[in-house]
Amino acid sequence: MTDEKQIVVETINLTKIYGDDGGVRALDGVSLTIRAGEFVAVMGPSGSGKSTLLNILGALDRPTGGVCKVNGQELAKVKDLDRFRSKTVGFVFQLHNLIPTLTAVENVEVPLQEENMSDRARRKRAEELLNLVGLSDRVNFMPSQLSGGQRQRVAIARALANHPAIVLADEPTGNLDSKSTDEIMDLLRALNREQGTTFIVVTHNPAVARAADRVVTVRDGKIKRDERMDSVFLSDLREFKESALGHAILDGNIPPELSGIGMDRVAEQVKEVLEKV
Ligand SMILES: Nc1ncnc2c1ncn2[C@@H]1O[C@H](COP(=O)(O)OP(=O)(O)OP(=O)(O)O)[C@@H](O)[C@H]1O
Ligand SMILES: [Mg+2]
Repeated sequence: MTDEKQIVVETINLTKIYGDDGGVRALDGVSLTIRAGEFVAVMGPSGSGKSTLLNILGALDRPTGGVCKVNGQELAKVKDLDRFRSKTVGFVFQLHNLIPTLTAVENVEVPLQEENMSDRARRKRAEELLNLVGLSDRVNFMPSQLSGGQRQRVAIARALANHPAIVLADEPTGNLDSKSTDEIMDLLRALNREQGTTFIVVTHNPAVARAADRVVTVRDGKIKRDERMDSVFLSDLREFKESALGHAILDGNIPPELSGIGMDRVAEQVKEVLEKV
């Protein structure tokens, strides 16, 4: 059971206020516990505080109040934040921010520079990581020679380089088409399963959130919902049941335009499901 797993993120009553006059309350009492191996999506409207939360978890920003512990370390007490970031957290941003003058493999080596390893060992590890994200044939390409999805893969390989306890991803598929989005999400899920890495992914995309185990919804700096994915799915189904199409399926009146795309063939099965929720 996940409940017995180690806690990797714990925030207690986290607040972040921007401006001296108490102007913007970007986070307003956020208490959140995330355990090792979880894949958490953070959703919420623009300006709700998602990036602020992620930046505080990654020690890129400091809270105004509350406690933030990551991997057992209370961030307010960490002396060397650079070291904390490079040892404990992997970052993936919407704009992959690769260094344009370095090749793919050199970009992945950047976080390994501080490691006490030989050049050869470093290169080997970076190549392994590129292999892991499916880019073994693009090792020596420059970022400008890669597609958006491939660049994001390099950024993911780089984020994983130091075996971080958590990977924080802010809209990692934000600038990708739906096919690349699916591919990146499949990759993140596979890494989560195979390596046990904990992921916290901010997204506006419900399809991305659907791939998560858990969806945390933030609004006005507060956690409004925190749901396991199976219950999110259930609430989607209930909503669908109440829609015009849901009613049509339950009544056995499939509109002709939907029969044309095969809805009539699955209607009985959908009806069976809807009757249960
Ligand atoms: N450096 C800053 N100075 C002042 N206000 C800020 C600063 N950074 C963020 N804010 C404010 O804090 C609030 C939360 O911002 P945040 O970037 O966390 O939102 P978000 O949920 O990530 O939005 P989006 O989905 O648009 O990325 C916003 O109202 C924003 O204007
Ligand atoms: Mg944001």
